[in-house]
Amino acid sequence: MSYPGGPDGPSVAGPEVTGPYVTGPAAIGQSDGPPVTGPHLIREVHPGLAGAVGSLWLAVTRAGGAIGFTRDAPEPAVRAAAEVAVGDVRAGFEHLLALGSGQAVVGTVSVVPGPSRVSAHRGTVVRLMVHPDLHGRGWGGRLLDAVVAHSRSLGLEQLLLSARSGTPLPAYYAARGWTEVGRWPGAVRVGPGDDRDEVWFQLRI
Ligand SMILES: CC(C)(COP(=O)(O)OP(=O)(O)OC[C@H]1O[C@@H](n2cnc3c(N)ncnc32)[C@H](O)[C@@H]1OP(=O)(O)O)[C@@H](O)C(=O)NCCC(=O)NCCS
Repeated sequence: MSYPGGPDGPSVAGPEVTGPYVTGPAAIGQSDGPPVTGPHLIREVHPGLAGAVGSLWLAVTRAGGAIGFTRDAPEPAVRAAAEVAVGDVRAGFEHLLALGSGQAVVGTVSVVPGPSRVSAHRGTVVRLMVHPDLHGRGWGGRLLDAVVAHSRSLGLEQLLLSARSGTPLPAYYAARGWTEVGRWPGAVRVGPGDDRDEVWFQLRI
C-alpha cells in the first residue's frame, strides 16, 4: 500500500494501492471500481488516514456494525474515535492493517500489544471492520488471518478480542478457531432495555 507519506512498507498480502485517502463517500465495491487490495500493514500514518478510517467506521456503524457505537451515533463522535485510534497507531501503541480500494480504506483490523512486562506476550485485536458493500466476500477472514500472522511476527503468544452478543459475531469468531473464555453480562447498552453481553474470545497463536 503506497500512500504518499503513508504506509509504504510491504503489505501482508496483495499489491499496492495509491493515495491520498478519500474521506467522503466513495464508490465502494462497484464492479467497475478500483480493486480491493491488502491487507496492508500501515507503517506510517498519512494525514488523511484518520478521515478515511472515520468514513469506513461511519459506514459500518450506519449499517449496524458493532464497533463501539449504535447505528444512530453522531458522525462527529465516530470521527473523533477514528482520530484517537489513528493517534494510537501513530504513537506505535496499535498496529493497523487495512484494505484499500483506490483512495478509500475499506477494511481494518488492529492489534494492541500488551503495554507492560506482564502483558507483553499478549495482544488485543480491535476494530475488525469491512465496508458493508464488501461483506461476505472473505475480506473479514483475510484481515483476521493477517492480524494473527502479524501478531505472531511480533512475538505475541495469545490474542483477545471482544464481541457483542445478540449479533452474528460470536459465532463468526468461534467458527474461526477462537475460544470463548468469558463474558461480561450486560456490558453493552445498545438501547433502552437492550443490554448485550461483551463476549471475550481468546486465540493462542
Ligand atoms: C464481521 C465482519 C468484519 C466480517 O467481514 P466479512 O468480510 O463480511 O466476512 P467474511 O466474508 O470473511 O465472512 C463472511 C461471514 O461473516 C458473516 N457475516 C456477514 N455479515 C455479517 C455481519 N454484518 N456481522 C457479522 N457477521 C457477518 C457471514 O455469515 C459469514 O459467515 P460464515 O463464513 O461463518 O458463513 C463484517 O461483517 C463487518 O465489518 N461487520 C461490522 C463491523 C463489526 O461489527 N465488526 C466486529 C467487531 S467485534
